[in-house]
Amino acid sequence: MAELTRTAAEDRGAWKSKIGFILAASGSAIGLGNIVFFASNAYKFGGGAFYLPYFIALFVLGIPVMIIEFSLGTMTGKSFPVAMRQLVGKKGEYAGWWTISCALFITMYYITILGWALTMLVGAFGGLLTDPAIAPFAGMDSPSDGPNATVYFFGMIATWAPMLSVAAIWAMTILILWRGTKTIEAAVRIFVPLMWLFMVVLIVRGLTLNGGVDGMLYLFTPNMDGIMDVNVWQGAFAQMFFSLSLGLGTMTAYASYLPKDADQINNSMVVSFLNCGFEFIAGVAIFSMLFAFAIVPSGGTLSLSFFVIPQGIAEFPFWIKGFGVFFFLLLVIAGLTSAVSLVEGIASPLIDKLGISRTKALALVMFPGIIGSLAFALPQVIDPAISSGGTLGFSLLDMLDHWAFSYSLLIGGLIECVMIGWVLGADKLRTFVNEHSKFTLGKWFNVQIKFVIPIILSLVIGGTLWQDLSGGLYQSDTDFGSFGWLPAAIPVVWIISTLVMSAVLTNRPAHDHDPHNVSNPA
Ligand code: TRP
Repeated sequence: MAELTRTAAEDRGAWKSKIGFILAASGSAIGLGNIVFFASNAYKFGGGAFYLPYFIALFVLGIPVMIIEFSLGTMTGKSFPVAMRQLVGKKGEYAGWWTISCALFITMYYITILGWALTMLVGAFGGLLTDPAIAPFAGMDSPSDGPNATVYFFGMIATWAPMLSVAAIWAMTILILWRGTKTIEAAVRIFVPLMWLFMVVLIVRGLTLNGGVDGMLYLFTPNMDGIMDVNVWQGAFAQMFFSLSLGLGTMTAYASYLPKDADQINNSMVVSFLNCGFEFIAGVAIFSMLFAFAIVPSGGTLSLSFFVIPQGIAEFPFWIKGFGVFFFLLLVIAGLTSAVSLVEGIASPLIDKLGISRTKALALVMFPGIIGSLAFALPQVIDPAISSGGTLGFSLLDMLDHWAFSYSLLIGGLIECVMIGWVLGADKLRTFVNEHSKFTLGKWFNVQIKFVIPIILSLVIGGTLWQDLSGGLYQSDTDFGSFGWLPAAIPVVWIISTLVMSAVLTNRPAHDHDPHNVSNPA
């Protein structure tokens, strides 16, 4: 029977080809982070001022941490927490499950934002891009002065429609994960090339608009004033971790489906450069449109992609409006392949640790995940001053994003480097990596993992924490009304629940023998 002749490794999953892995890992990396968050961070931190910290972040932190995360996967053939247990013992597993629990929270709101993008995509066929755009649904407490894409967006999230989209995105994610690497590989073979194609269309459109080239120049003109600002560095480091899908064990899960002798230096370089190349092009496309539309963005992280660009597109004639559809289609596709990796990064360790089936593991992730994603889509308007907060779901999302985005990825990366560098020994990892690689890592790599990265990350995390604590927990200009307790409750819920999940999972007895090995000792 075919069932019995499969090897244990194939049962866990295995990429059919190297290109399948590269597509999947770059599909994970390229996502909302590259389009939505990069452009708004680059704008917030003054265009050209963002680049130096960004490149330093890529070479000093990004590529080395990716080499570590990929290698953990091939060294052990297991996903993150289980790999950490094998290499550094129980404390490694605690840390591993903590980051996986953080990944669950990030997945919840990542999918909500994707759900909004899907709802905007549907809207782009109709009301969103008519000039002036009309708010699609009634029911907002205080519609504003001019009908425009901002009103459209807040009108949209104040309805129940995004809940449907959120459910649809979850369904697509689970479908792609259904047969593991087999279905993931099939999906990324279509979606990843497609997202590059859409991006190329958008950049050509952006640059050929009147004034578009000025936007590109703004993005690339160095601005040394910003370099002294700690926030610029903090922003660039957090952006790099998020963009490269680091710090949450995601890349380890994907790499665990590779053969042991995979060249992880090469893989890390290829995936990082594909990701940052895409991010660059996305930045140019968005900034060229901003300048062409002569729009000065204001507002939070989402505003650039969710209302500034659509607003600009809406003011153009019909044949340009079509690009609004492309833009949201791109967001949905790019985000979907990232959401897939986030969920796989959680499901895969559950399979490894508990020895449960893929279906069961997916169900275990999906149920809490969907509830969370739906909570972030709650449409009740709690802040009538629409521009600062909007709905209950949006406010919750914004608060959780503040904590999860600024802390969990960087803390995950810090713990990883300290444990691998000091407990396992940087040399062990380096020797393993070098054995299978064309290029070899010199002794400097040890210094990098043991000192440079931990020191930089501690400074950034400490600086952010200091700002948060001295400025009061999470600053927001939103008046939460009767929900005034939320800003303090969110970080507490986040910390306690991730610690509890980590303790419970670490102390579950490991499923130690693989039933497939029994039937197939070879
Ligand atoms: N990198 C993705 C993006 O840019 C998001 C993502 C997927 C992610 N998996 C991750 C972020 C793991 C952090 C950790 O949109």
